[in-house]
Amino acid sequence: MKPKNKLFSGKTLAILTGGGDTPALNSSIESIRNRASLIGYKVYGIRQGWKGLLGDGDILDLTHQPYDGWYGGTALRSSRTNPFPSKKNTENRVPQILRNIERYKIDVLVSIGGDDTNGAAKRLYETEGIPVIGFPKTIDNDLRTRTMHDYKGNKIEGVLCPGFPSAAKGVMEYAANLRTTAESHSRIIVLEVMGRDAGWLTGSACFGGAEMALIPEIEMTKERIEFFLESVKERYMSSPKKALIIAVSEGVRWFNPESNTTEVVCASSELDEYGHRRFGGVSGVIASEIFHKLKIEARAQISGYYARSGVCRNYDRRLTMTLADKVVDLLLREHYGQMPVINKIVNYQELEEFNTTSIDMGEIGNKCLPEEYYDTNKFCFTDAYIDFVSHIIGKPRFLEFNYDFPVVIPEDL
Ligand code: F6P
Repeated sequence: MKPKNKLFSGKTLAILTGGGDTPALNSSIESIRNRASLIGYKVYGIRQGWKGLLGDGDILDLTHQPYDGWYGGTALRSSRTNPFPSKKNTENRVPQILRNIERYKIDVLVSIGGDDTNGAAKRLYETEGIPVIGFPKTIDNDLRTRTMHDYKGNKIEGVLCPGFPSAAKGVMEYAANLRTTAESHSRIIVLEVMGRDAGWLTGSACFGGAEMALIPEIEMTKERIEFFLESVKERYMSSPKKALIIAVSEGVRWFNPESNTTEVVCASSELDEYGHRRFGGVSGVIASEIFHKLKIEARAQISGYYARSGVCRNYDRRLTMTLADKVVDLLLREHYGQMPVINKIVNYQELEEFNTTSIDMGEIGNKCLPEEYYDTNKFCFTDAYIDFVSHIIGKPRFLEFNYDFPVVIPEDL
């Protein structure tokens, strides 16, 4: 007997990835593709984000193709193309996008992205009625997902975006490894961590042993810098091996005496199509100030793409599969303009469909680090943050070699 057609046979779902890559993108694509295929969709991949819907279009058929979801990054490639006019590109590309959606007969679009990509998807849904489902992603973890963190009876609004778990684990390991170098040279290492305007990712360096941290949410005014330097000196002098790792977010606003304001340090002033500058370099400014004011040897280390690259870690793999389960629910109910999310911060084993919900894409936006997660007086992350991140990346990783060799005194003394 010939099997009956599946529910959505004859329909096409297309997936795109926009913005910075993460180790969980291919896993997201594969998980969504597998589930959408099961209910009958033909699944397309749009190359290079919104760019693949411009001109003649750049579309691949993913339906019955092998796929490696453990491999980081995105096989569809990514771009920061904005469908809507911006300072950098004044052209309105929406007509081209609508034309290609029609030409390729795309019935549903799944946009995997952060605030920019999903913000554009939301606008296309609201203004043009394109059936879209947003899928969260960002190593910065600053896309509002309304994921509640239950900490000692308090409910804190957390965030859980695919990409963050793998990046956080990577940053933790990176910070842990730096310890041997810091100790060998009795140095302070200022470790710069991506994350744009939010300190979520920087905290994971502390999980790897960074003793102090600076985040974008707390401006480093002239007075605060003085207080910070005093604390650095104290921490360094009291550290048994005269070594210190300070994790700093790339988006830290640091006082600039020349302009008399606090500013982000940029690697380039050029804007992308969503109006963002490229951050980078604040660790160098801080290390040099430590050296000049405290006379302690300090070095800057930019972790940069290390956080974004490499394989998908277990938590992210399961997170993307769980969120893709929720995509199926949205598809079955033809509930568009929604983004699947995990509703509470849970351990790996609890990443299950019953812990998901979806939020209206109209509600997405940026969410900075909750104040409960950072201690402004001690320049470090709190136990509440440690609890949050330990659900996601497990145990902290510290490298430790405790020695107390006896000092040799020559006989002639
Ligand atoms: O949003 C992700 C992110 O990695 C940020 O943390 C960082 O500021 C930015 O992208 C850098 O982007 P790129 O180097 O790809 O332009």
